[in-house]
This record gives sequence, C-alpha cells and structure tokens, in this order.
Amino acid sequence: MKLIVTDVDKTVHEIAFNPDDILMHVLRAAEMGILAECDGCCVCATCHIYVDAEWLGKLEPIDDDEEDMLDEACTPQENSRLSCQIQLTPQHDGMKLTIGPEWD
Ligand code: FES
Repeated sequence: MKLIVTDVDKTVHEIAFNPDDILMHVLRAAEMGILAECDGCCVCATCHIYVDAEWLGKLEPIDDDEEDMLDEACTPQENSRLSCQIQLTPQHDGMKLTIGPEWD
C-alpha cells in the first residue's frame, strides 16, 4: 500500500505503508520534512498536512484536541489534519496529501 505525498518543494513521492501505521511515523521515516516535535502527543502541530479533498471522508473525524492544535498551525485550511492523529488502514491506499509549510 502506498501514499502519494507532495513535499514542501512540490516534489511528489510514493511512500509505502502498512495497515495500522500512524501517518506521522510513515512521513517522518520517509524524511518528508515532518518535525513532529511532540512525537504524536497532539501538542505541537508540526506534523501538519493537507489531505486531498476526495480522501477526507475516509479519515476519522477531527476531535477537539486536534481541532485546537490545528488552530495553532501555520496556514490551516479546511483540509488540514495532524498526521500524528491518523491511523492508516487499507482503505487509505493511494491517499494523496501535501506536507504543511515549514515552521520558522
Ligand atoms: S506530532 Fe505534535 S501534534 Fe502531531
């Protein structure tokens, strides 16, 4: 199974994942520029991504903690998510996403 990931330089990558992987871990292992400073504790927003619109409905809904942290993310959009809060499943095979802007 794979993800289609656009990095901050607009380069597109195909990245393999396994079911039950956490998306942030997959992106960090692939060196996609995800900082993930809090290591998945949902308190930093440096794992911010944009999910292509057609895939948003296949993700679990945003909970209150993620919503609060997304408000802190640089340039949040309607398709913003925190990659540390997304557990991948086989139905995410082929999902397209873009890495959020770098933090200063
Ligand atoms: S890694 Fe910190 S909020 Fe996701």
